Amino acid sequence: MPSQNLILHSFCLVISASLSVSCVTPPAVPALPVTPSMFSPASPEAAMLATFGVVIHIIMAIVFVGVTIAALFLARRFRSAYPAQQGRRIFGNVPLELGWTIAPAAINGLTFVVSRGVMCSVDPEVSASTAQQGPAEYVQATGRQWWWEYRLPEYGVITANELHLPLNQRAAIELRADDVMHNWWVPQLTGKRYMIPGSVNSLWFTPTEIGAFGGVCGEFCGLQHAWMRTLVIVESDDAIRQWAQRQAASAEAPQSPLAQQGESGFAQRTCWSCHAIRGRFQATANAGPDLTHMAGRSIIAAGVLENNAENMARWLRNPQDVKPGNLMPNLQLSDEEVRTLTACMLELR
Ligand code: CUA
Repeated sequence: MPSQNLILHSFCLVISASLSVSCVTPPAVPALPVTPSMFSPASPEAAMLATFGVVIHIIMAIVFVGVTIAALFLARRFRSAYPAQQGRRIFGNVPLELGWTIAPAAINGLTFVVSRGVMCSVDPEVSASTAQQGPAEYVQATGRQWWWEYRLPEYGVITANELHLPLNQRAAIELRADDVMHNWWVPQLTGKRYMIPGSVNSLWFTPTEIGAFGGVCGEFCGLQHAWMRTLVIVESDDAIRQWAQRQAASAEAPQSPLAQQGESGFAQRTCWSCHAIRGRFQATANAGPDLTHMAGRSIIAAGVLENNAENMARWLRNPQDVKPGNLMPNLQLSDEEVRTLTACMLELR
């Protein structure tokens, strides 16, 4: 039948369209091996959110099971032997009606009180008194299409996608967006928080476990939303000072001849118009990540690739092949240029 054919045809079109979309997605090396789970928290705030999640799910499960059992029982108990016969008319039942009004109201009230308590503890109002509760690591995070910029003004650090935080010290993150709305979410450390163009949001949490914690963008923000990952590395106070010191320093001049050649290529190809290498090149437009200490990061392109020579070369050869739609164009670099630029990038420790 023609209509059936039409339905079948549209169905096939939808399937093939979705398949071709998934084919465009780059075959990425999983640079962030651990899938972040909010149920393995590494901060008191995340722990509270995880417990809250479990409590709410238990309440929902009890309601779901109760209602299902009641519905099945009633359907069986009161089914009619004569389906065509009109049922008896019922004009109200006060105890029942009170029951199904009070019970949901009580459940909602309880959930509200618990939610409010969790919200107030996880997300205290940022005020002078909050700020005075011990030292805080102050970070400015900006969501861009599709990567994260992190600045630690106290140390003069500007970096991308990878943030280091000290153990047992409150992190105060200021969240901004540069283009569209993003949402910063590192489930093991904190709840989600929007990044909104034109306004500043903030977030507080205290990491209590050493380790690397993966994060994602929690708001659909364009083609590469799913490849907008981040890494938060929690380490000891000493390690963090060392990291910050290294990050704040200007880049050193390239040592190997290959890297030196790469730096000339960086200048010729005007890579500096988007990327700064502090001490060497000042970016004219701050469109791409600061590359001053690129080699010190473990991920490329917000988590699409692991940072190593092979992947760096792959990225430089054609960034659009690795992460379609990102702002870096395919510069049609020659093999030689890719080789020397890769060497240059890997010397930016
Ligand atoms: Cu940024 Cu989704």
